[in-house]
Amino acid sequence: MYQSLKPLLFCLPAETAHRLTLAALKYTPTALLPHYASNSPELKVTLWGRVFPNPVGLAAGFDKNAESLNGLFHLGFGFIEAGTVTVKPQSGNPRPRVFREPKFNAVINRMGFPNCGVAAFKDNLRKFLEKKPRPTGVLGLNIGMNKDQTEPAKDYTALVRSLAPMADYLTINISSPNTPGLRNLQEKGPLTELLTAVLAERKASCGEFPPPLFVKLAPDLTDAQIQDIASVLLELKIDGVILSNTTLSRPEELPTSFREQKGGLSGAPLTDLSTAVIRQFYAVTKGQIPIIGVGGIGNAMDAYAKIRAGASLVQLYSNLIFQGPSLPSMINKGLLDLLAQDGFKHISEAVGADHRTNDREAI
Ligand SMILES: Cc1cc2nc3c(=O)[nH]c(=O)nc-3n(C[C@H](O)[C@H](O)[C@H](O)COP(=O)(O)O)c2cc1C
Repeated sequence: MYQSLKPLLFCLPAETAHRLTLAALKYTPTALLPHYASNSPELKVTLWGRVFPNPVGLAAGFDKNAESLNGLFHLGFGFIEAGTVTVKPQSGNPRPRVFREPKFNAVINRMGFPNCGVAAFKDNLRKFLEKKPRPTGVLGLNIGMNKDQTEPAKDYTALVRSLAPMADYLTINISSPNTPGLRNLQEKGPLTELLTAVLAERKASCGEFPPPLFVKLAPDLTDAQIQDIASVLLELKIDGVILSNTTLSRPEELPTSFREQKGGLSGAPLTDLSTAVIRQFYAVTKGQIPIIGVGGIGNAMDAYAKIRAGASLVQLYSNLIFQGPSLPSMINKGLLDLLAQDGFKHISEAVGADHRTNDREAI
């Protein structure tokens, strides 16, 4: 079905195609949507007291306004991260601001957090949460700051206060390259200050059962920055880290007209870079902070490489555009084969397996 629709979607500007996809997922009765359940016990992950029916999630940015969650869960994702949402609505950068390169399974975007703002986002969430039964799967909410905010902690704490009661987890996004100054929040001082404020807010507003808090990082970090960030996250007991957002780097082989577009690059050219950051972060933290691996996943091998490098869960976005809605279930099926090949009975046994192999080799 997707293969017959794909030529039409690729004739349209990227954002128009995306809007149509979201509308189809929102308005088509779920009975008519393709259903890809992926619920093998070998792939079920329990972390932070949350049960992920499978480890393959939808990355942030796809459903920025939390408007098509029901349809998206129907496609078989184990979890979905809605957002990035900001306090006030904002329109983002001028269009066009999303560019696809199908030959390289690559995307560049400079969207700049266009979204309907937290009030409308919450209305959509309420509608989703009120529907019973709620689809199985975990719902994460990804929060960011408005472009004109000069005191980031104000926006992040307001969003934690407002959204924590509705979230299975919250992600602090400080790594989109399209909001001026955002990535500076990854520096040790500003990061410590921001996360301290956010944790205090979570404690004050969430009582006994606060949602776990994750931080989403860029793949364009130096070794020293990774060390610094890891030490802050460990010290503050941050629950998880998402690696990674899009990259500002541009591999040589990409066509000039594409690589010259400003913004963050995702899809296949990001695969190895994000896996390398996961590997490094897992090594530096000795696996003490669960990692959600994201970047260029287009098949089970890509996902498995991230898991063996240290990811407990994975997410994807760009390859959904190129391969269509059966991708999460295809990856889950492939993961079962890869686990069996390596003699693992459960996905958790594969997490960080490369590090243990390397240890043995080093001995
Ligand atoms: C069009 C587009 C919009 C995105 N918007 C967001 C966003 O709002 N918040 C965020 O944290 N990440 C955003 N991302 C980054 C993705 O969540 C993901 O980290 C990145 O694309 C790498 O995964 P992929 O190669 O599977 O796409 C966006 C990515 C794309 C392609």
